[in-house]
Amino acid sequence: MYILGIESSCDETSAAVLCMEEGRKEILSNIVASQIETHRLYGGVVPEIASRAHIEAITGITHQALREAGVMLSELGAVAVTAAPGLIGALLVGVNFAKSLAFANRIPLVPVNHIKAHVAAAYLSDPLLKPPFLAVVVSGGHTSLFEVSDDTTFTEIGATRDDAAGEAFDKIGRVIGLPYPGGAALDKLAYEGDPLAIKLPSPALGRETLDFSFSGLKTAALNYINTCRQSGIEVPRADLAASYTRAIVEGIAVKMKQALTERQYRTVVLAGGVAANSHLRRKLEHVATAHGARLSVPPLALCGDNGAMVAAAGYFAYLAGQRAGTDLNASAEDHPAWER
Ligand code: KG4
Ligand code: ZN
Repeated sequence: MYILGIESSCDETSAAVLCMEEGRKEILSNIVASQIETHRLYGGVVPEIASRAHIEAITGITHQALREAGVMLSELGAVAVTAAPGLIGALLVGVNFAKSLAFANRIPLVPVNHIKAHVAAAYLSDPLLKPPFLAVVVSGGHTSLFEVSDDTTFTEIGATRDDAAGEAFDKIGRVIGLPYPGGAALDKLAYEGDPLAIKLPSPALGRETLDFSFSGLKTAALNYINTCRQSGIEVPRADLAASYTRAIVEGIAVKMKQALTERQYRTVVLAGGVAANSHLRRKLEHVATAHGARLSVPPLALCGDNGAMVAAAGYFAYLAGQRAGTDLNASAEDHPAWER
């Protein structure tokens, strides 16, 4: 079947058309309009501006996705849309657009959870992927471990209790003058520094839990920067990038190791925007191999927010019988009403 995926939860407007069948998972188009340049002026995403930019882009992006795929609206088997979690104003644009498109054309509408969509991206690059597996989701808004028992059933077994890893990267990136979003810039800069130069606390909490806390790490890095500035010393940006990246990567690796030891998964999926981090990819690959597990990571183009991952998650939700009615609403929360 052909399925259209629509994504507008944060600062990317995206639409994609996938051909999904048993044994075939093909991306026919995946158009992403990023608002990063606009938000860069403010050093972060401005929700009101994001919503307005989605409104302007979404119709054209969807047309383009259909045209590039060579698929007509009448040929679609389903429309999938990110309905939670995310910025509420941004989500509402995609949800309302998808709803109108689906009901006007009598196409089934499937609501998608953005976190599950990040994980579903892995199926598109890894035809062998099959649950059960451990999913490590690391994005701008989330840092969680999920036990995925079938294509639509996710149980959160660990999560950050405060900031997400992406947020932590972006914050320090901004403070040391890197362009928004700081994650990708810190990734590069970290190669020029010494990862052991600055001692920073681990975001991994104690062994009784699989949870994280990034706020202490973020504060320690901010204190370090302030101390340098107050002492008239130039902040050693590359050493900070390397040490900070090491703390984040090692912290996530510790909890992945613990999950693998306690629960013996054979496969681990690394997903979300921060899965693009080269240091994290390499470290988690080592951890997986050392535990006799296989790490599956989507290619870079599918790590950030995109419509293809939404269509992929929508396909599994469709097979599981999940449908939205005309009363579908967006939710900023991780666990929206339609998923309960
Ligand atoms: O998944 P995503 O596109 O949006 C959310 O769902 O939050 O993730 C965006 C996050 C941002 O914090 C960005 O800095 C981070 O992913 N990111 C990276 C890298 N590329 C993007 N973080 C570290 N290293 C990267 N290479
Ligand atoms: Zn995302």
